[in-house]
Amino acid sequence: METIILDASQTENIELCAGILRDGGLVAFPTETVYGLGADALDEKAVAGIFAVKGRPQDNPLIIHVASIDDVAPLVANVPDAFQILASKYWPGPLTLIMRKSYKVPDSVTAGLDTVAIRMPEHPAALALIRACGTPVAAPSANPSGKPSPTKAQHVLNDIGGRIPYILDGGDCRVGLESTVLDISGETPKILRPGGLTHDELKSVLGGVDVADGVESVEKPMSPGMKYRHYAPKAPLTAVSGSPDKTAEYIITRLNIDTAALMFEDFAITHPNVVQYGHSEDHTAQASRLFDALREIDQLGVSKIYAQLPQEDGLGHAIANRIKKAAGSSIVDCNEE
Ligand code: TXA
Ligand code: MG
Repeated sequence: METIILDASQTENIELCAGILRDGGLVAFPTETVYGLGADALDEKAVAGIFAVKGRPQDNPLIIHVASIDDVAPLVANVPDAFQILASKYWPGPLTLIMRKSYKVPDSVTAGLDTVAIRMPEHPAALALIRACGTPVAAPSANPSGKPSPTKAQHVLNDIGGRIPYILDGGDCRVGLESTVLDISGETPKILRPGGLTHDELKSVLGGVDVADGVESVEKPMSPGMKYRHYAPKAPLTAVSGSPDKTAEYIITRLNIDTAALMFEDFAITHPNVVQYGHSEDHTAQASRLFDALREIDQLGVSKIYAQLPQEDGLGHAIANRIKKAAGSSIVDCNEE
C-alpha cells in the first residue's frame, strides 16, 4: 500500500480520512502532543488493526479521542466530579482522563480493564477529523511499539509508511510529548503517566493529586503502557542526571566516534555526534525537540548514547520520565560520581 501525506488544513482531506475511519480503516493524524494512529473506537476489527500495525502488546489499552466534552458520557459508567472541573479547564489539551467504562467501549480498546482513557485533543485537524467521522477515535501514538513517538508527519511515514493509506500533515506537534494520563476513577486523582500538562497545573484545580509509584520504575508500572522499554533509540542510552555543567562534563569526556550525546544547546559542544534539544532552562523547547532529536541520533549509527537529564520541575518531570524510559535501568547520577 502506498501511503500518501495530505495537508490537514484542507477540508476535503479531513473528509477523505473521516471516510476511511468510518469504513473501518486507519489513518494517522496530528495532535498537539504527538501524531496518533486512529481507528473507529467502537469498531473491534478496526481497533485490532491498530495493534497489528504498531506491533503493540495486547495488554496495553488505547486512548479514545473525542471532539467535545459531551461525547464522554456515553463512554463512561459514571462522570466523576473531577471530570467536570478538569475538562472545563484543560480540554481541549494534553490531558487524558481514566474513568470507569460503559458497556459501549469494546474490551479490545481497554485491554480488558474496566476503565477507559479519554482525551479531547487541541489540534484543529484532530478535532475536525473526529467531528467529520462522527464516532470517537481510538489512537495510540503513531510509532511502532517501543520507539520514540512521532512529532512530524515525516516521522510517521518513516515508521509505518506502506501500512496505512493516509497521513494528515498538520505540521510539527506543539507540545512534542504525549498527554498526561490521570486516573480519576478512584478517591484521589493519580498521575499514571506524566505528560504535557504538569502536576502543578493539576494541583491548582484539584485538592490532592498523587503520582503513581510505578511512574518512575520500569518494574512496577501503573499504566500498562509504562512497563515496556519505550521511546528507545536503536543504541543503548544512558541518562545522566545532575546539574547541567556536571552532566555536560561527564558526557563530553566520554564522546568519541562511536558514541553520541543528547545535550542542551547552551552546553553542547561542536561535534558530529552531539545532537541538541533546547536550552537547559527551557522545558517547552526541550519537550518539542526530544523525540525528533532521538530520531536524529538513530541516524548516526553509533553504538552508545548519553543524554543530559533536565531538572524535574514542571514539564521537566515528563521529559526526564521519557529519557529514563529510553534508558531502561542505565542511569548515572553525577552528584555521586
Ligand atoms: O498524547 C497522547 O496521549 C497521544 C496522542 C496520540 O493522543 N497518545 C498516546 O497514546 O500517547 P499511547 O497509546 O501511546 O499511550 C496511552 C497510554 C499508555 O501508557 C496506556 O497504557 C495508558 O495510556 N492507558 C490507556 N488506557 C488506560 C487505562 N484504562 N488505564 C490505565 N492506563 C491506560
Ligand atoms: Mg505511545
